[in-house]
Amino acid sequence: MTASSSLPTVFSGAQPTGQLTLGNYMGALRTWVRMQQDYSCIFCVVDLHALTVRQDPQQLRENIFELTALYLACGIDPERSIIFLQSHVPAHSELAWFLSTFTQMGELERMTQFKDKAQQHQQNINAALFTYPVLMAADILLYQTHKVPVGEDQKQHLELTRDVAIRFNGLYGPVFRVPEPLIGNDGVARVKDLQEPSKKMSKSALSELARVMLLDEPDAIVKKFKKAVTDTLGVIQYDEVNQPGVANLLNIWCAATGNSREQALSHFAHNQYGKLKMETAEAVNALLQPIRSRFLQLNSDRGQLQELLLRGAEQARAQARQTMDQVRSVLGLPKAFQ
Ligand code: TRP
Repeated sequence: MTASSSLPTVFSGAQPTGQLTLGNYMGALRTWVRMQQDYSCIFCVVDLHALTVRQDPQQLRENIFELTALYLACGIDPERSIIFLQSHVPAHSELAWFLSTFTQMGELERMTQFKDKAQQHQQNINAALFTYPVLMAADILLYQTHKVPVGEDQKQHLELTRDVAIRFNGLYGPVFRVPEPLIGNDGVARVKDLQEPSKKMSKSALSELARVMLLDEPDAIVKKFKKAVTDTLGVIQYDEVNQPGVANLLNIWCAATGNSREQALSHFAHNQYGKLKMETAEAVNALLQPIRSRFLQLNSDRGQLQELLLRGAEQARAQARQTMDQVRSVLGLPKAFQ
């Protein structure tokens, strides 16, 4: 469908490295679902990227199927969009090799994610951790992508993707479309850590109370919001600096219910923090519990998920092939297919 569609192409992906948080949902997945209306979308489970950090094989396989089921449970529609597993389409690795010959060591050395990850994994600073952004560039450029929805943390990688595409096109002609970032503009603030609300909600936070997971049970969600850190001022107003906890709860309530900040402030005016916490928990549960039940159902049929991934890979391969033929041709490599 995508190849013949006249809608601009969106590509995005997430690593199968464990459960997603409410922050991942609000910041990424929910936006992806909405984008299906206006774009021809390709959503990838980027298992090759996950391999840059040592993975337990059984757990990795589990995570791959779970993330696939989660994409579907959130509303990614395989009839409209392509959903596939990165390692099923060898062109990703192949193009990454070609692109690595157009990427300078110095450019990769400047990547802040590499610097951070090298710090975190000092025992395994492997070459792929270093060339990670080149593989990401290959993901995007293979599909002549117009737009890439990215969070703050991936902006630098997208900038590098653009630089490499422009450099390549400058040498060989317009082989790659130069992708544009798509920064969420629906005014949704970042979901913050419930225990340390000045930080972004992260799956690696020490305390479980700090984060709401997409698949948390209703009771767990209520408990986490009840224990969310607020302040001693006792007034519900929006002040990120002095009342970051309250501001976070207000933002989450708005994002979950679709209300504006003004509506939130008038709704909670003269109320206690307890009510804000409870209503936020309820709104989040109303949003997440349908996803959770769809997930449980989808995730119980691995055969069906496997089949879906294979179908997606076939579609992705057909599109990737066109770019690869061109790349081989301009580089002077004889055709690989009839
Ligand atoms: N690096 C991204 C992340 O960790 C995942 C990713 C891989 C991606 N390839 C991509 C995102 C291509 C957007 C486009 O979040």
